[in-house]
Amino acid sequence: MGEAMSTTNGTTAAAAQATLAERAAALSWYHTLDLPGGIETAGHFDTRPTVAKVPLPARLDGKRCLDVGTWDGFWAFEMERRGAASVTAIDLDDPSRWDWPPEARLRLDRDADRLAYLEQYKKDAAGFRLAKEALDSKVERIDCSVYDLDPAVHGTFDVVFLGSLLLHLRDPVSALSALRSVCSGEAIIADTIELLPSLLRPRTPSARLEGLDQSWWWQPNAAAFRRMVRSAGFDIVEQTGIYFLPIGASHPKPPVLSRATWRELLTAGGREKVVIRLKGIPHTAVRATPQR
Ligand SMILES: C[S@@+](CC[C@H](N)C(=O)[O-])C[C@H]1O[C@@H](n2cnc3c(N)ncnc32)[C@H](O)[C@@H]1O
Repeated sequence: MGEAMSTTNGTTAAAAQATLAERAAALSWYHTLDLPGGIETAGHFDTRPTVAKVPLPARLDGKRCLDVGTWDGFWAFEMERRGAASVTAIDLDDPSRWDWPPEARLRLDRDADRLAYLEQYKKDAAGFRLAKEALDSKVERIDCSVYDLDPAVHGTFDVVFLGSLLLHLRDPVSALSALRSVCSGEAIIADTIELLPSLLRPRTPSARLEGLDQSWWWQPNAAAFRRMVRSAGFDIVEQTGIYFLPIGASHPKPPVLSRATWRELLTAGGREKVVIRLKGIPHTAVRATPQR
């Protein structure tokens, strides 16, 4: 009994002494975050180089801000760093509530290992909570779908941010309409686009519908992305060119270019993989205001 207690006490003491670096290393991260003490989380993506590309206002002093689909909180913390009076971050904590295509959902439900991996990845928003503690942040995270944003429930926000989410949604325009309903100032929307159709048809909206066994529905070109934003009742006041979201330290490493890789260039999905390996995920962004 005494030995068991001393083990318990020892374990508790050791856990209390675990450094931030150890705690961060024990978690799975979507975002590469800079934490105090020079600690960098091993993110699936490295969002940091995209900060200079996205038209988020340099200062947000006094603003009530919203980050949609926050995951580990990169953009919510960035808004707080820019002086926001308050930042609310929403996400779905349970991957089974993600709006995935039915075939992708079935595949996931049958693959216990992958489901467990995803649940672990998002479990209790552990990454967000550790980063919040380490950054001494006041960001408030709530479990809420973008579709359910409602001014009567959540109030309105001076600045709303939505990043890399629309492609995963069955109905991106409805999601943007819900975002508009809580936006009293401006919206910064930054999402994935398909590269080649964006370059080949810069003015003609087009989108590739996936909707089968992958976790995404729509791959719009840049013109279609902007059209979705306008269709949802926003005026675009600023737009960026195409930029790339690089993969991070925990993303599977790109293989060297092989003959098989060159063959992949013959299909849209294959081209997409090669672009991601070499550059990252193509994105574009807008700053928009609700139409009055
Ligand atoms: C690809 S990650 C993007 C993370 C972050 N917004 C960024 O730009 O780096 C998509 C995020 O949206 C969340 N998400 C998925 N469906 C959602 C929904 N219906 N409402 C709110 N968030 C959702 C996911 O859980 C995930 O955290």
